[in-house]
Amino acid sequence: MQQTKQVQDYIRTIVDFPHEGILFRDVTTLFADPRGFRMAIDQMLHPYAGERIDKVVGLEARGFILGGAIAHQLSVGFVPIRKKGKLPGRTLSQDYKLEYGEAIVEIHDDAIAPGEKVLIVDDLLATGGTCGAAIQLIERLQGQIVSCAFIVDLPDLGGRKRLQEMGMNVHALCS
Ligand code: PRP
Ligand code: HPA
Repeated sequence: MQQTKQVQDYIRTIVDFPHEGILFRDVTTLFADPRGFRMAIDQMLHPYAGERIDKVVGLEARGFILGGAIAHQLSVGFVPIRKKGKLPGRTLSQDYKLEYGEAIVEIHDDAIAPGEKVLIVDDLLATGGTCGAAIQLIERLQGQIVSCAFIVDLPDLGGRKRLQEMGMNVHALCS
């Protein structure tokens, strides 16, 4: 009997990208499939049925694709967190550690009102550095983070533990 395809079955693994030895989980094949994409959006939203969410925050770049669809589904606004230098208005910046080196992400300083309930969305949780910086930015704007939602969690890299230690609720569709 044919098994129904699950979200993880639509994700492609690219060997040695961007560096030798890395297995890159490529969600573009999931996004490109109408059934897969809808399934991913529906499942990411499932834990929050009946919960108040005022804003969806998406993390550059694949979090924009997911976050836009999720915000549309919830009929709420979407807010991007971008790499440094991309947002045109007044921003707050937050640096964070990468595996090698550091990076900076930014948010518009008027994007979230104090007390707004925020859902953070991205494709993948690895070390949690990017999402950790996003959490700091949202908390600096006094947003209340409902949860951090991902398609993929790479548990060996410790991101879930790190975000949970920051007091976050974390959901991923597969690991
Ligand atoms: C990837 C991924 C997450 C982040 C996860 O994005 O989409 O945003 O890394 O890693 P972390 O948990 O260790 O921070 P990337 O930095 O490659 O940026 P891009 O989406 O702009 O390519
Ligand atoms: N896919 C997408 N982004 C990533 C990955 C991956 O496998 N690892 C770290 N960031």
